[in-house]
Amino acid sequence: MKNKKVLITGSSGFIGFHVVENLLKNNYHIVGIDNHNNYYDPKLKNVRKKILNKYKNFKFFKVDIKDKNKLLKIFKNHRPHVTINLAAQAGVRYSFKNPQKYVDSNITGFTNILEIMKFLNLKNLIYASSSSVYGDSKKFPFKENQNLNPLNFYGQTKLMNEKIANIYKKNFNINTIGLRFFTIYGPYGRPDMFIPKIFDKIKKGKTIDLFNNGNHFRDFTFVGDVSNIILKMIKRIDNKKLSDIYNICNGRSYNIKKIIKLIEKETNQKLKIKNKPFQMGDMFKTFGDSSRLKKSYKIKKFTSFEKGIKYTLQKDF
Ligand SMILES: NC(=O)c1ccc[n+]([C@@H]2O[C@H](COP(=O)([O-])OP(=O)(O)OC[C@H]3O[C@@H](n4cnc5c(N)ncnc54)[C@H](O)[C@@H]3O)[C@@H](O)[C@H]2O)c1
Repeated sequence: MKNKKVLITGSSGFIGFHVVENLLKNNYHIVGIDNHNNYYDPKLKNVRKKILNKYKNFKFFKVDIKDKNKLLKIFKNHRPHVTINLAAQAGVRYSFKNPQKYVDSNITGFTNILEIMKFLNLKNLIYASSSSVYGDSKKFPFKENQNLNPLNFYGQTKLMNEKIANIYKKNFNINTIGLRFFTIYGPYGRPDMFIPKIFDKIKKGKTIDLFNNGNHFRDFTFVGDVSNIILKMIKRIDNKKLSDIYNICNGRSYNIKKIIKLIEKETNQKLKIKNKPFQMGDMFKTFGDSSRLKKSYKIKKFTSFEKGIKYTLQKDF
């Protein structure tokens, strides 16, 4: 890829931060966009942005992707070779409380990006989907081409993203790659997610609500793997023969109670637990098949949870 300009939305978010930093280290020019909303403490978003600001190839705009006019101006001025859309309203449980936020960012914002790319004749979009699109599918491990049945509003908006992207791919020749992320963890993690929550409760000696008594399974995937995968994708973005949807998963499903034991062992501390019933809209198990990704991008293996969590604890605990 000759033109090394990449525009990333959600650049101050958990995954966005890691992706941007990796691309900057590899000499890409990055235009970051984020609205620093208060879904979780914006101080953490500021901390991440400050780290990125140290790189001279990083430009940042505090803009909401809902705001098409402001977005268009930035795209016009920078004409990125690749756009990565990570800005979204994330979270399963919050989507039952405030679905409008998901419509605004995940549907309106996402469509704005595609419309602008169509208008400016920009060709390459990588965007975040989610393992939530599989919903209550019982066929494990999840493969990209199996039936999808999201259980919650969040998952539905992510499935819509895939369908909308497909329309722009077919009709307007925009090259789109959708990434179905499976429970990503790592340093600077999202405070509403399970692992950062455990760290926080242990540190403060507080009690965690453990839904379904901890009898869930998740395919925990290390954020460093995600940023390396996206770097590889960008390097090969001009090769149009690749697929358009990929599971981004470790390919191992871990029981939540086992994860707690492992973290307790590593920290030498005990987590206080209050068992709670199964939550509406939750998936019982996520477990993905990453063979499509491994084959397309010649990826050999993912970071084991044991290794990834040690690294995360060193940085965040
Ligand atoms: N972390 C995971 O395990 C996971 C799993 C599946 C899918 N995803 C998806 O990956 C993407 C990144 O997730 P994350 O974990 O980094 O979440 P995050 O909330 O940390 O990052 C999203 C960032 O986007 C920004 N943002 C949200 N709405 C915006 C808007 N309308 N305009 C501009 N900026 C906006 C937020 O301020 C935030 O900094 C999201 O699309 C999410 O749905 C994440």
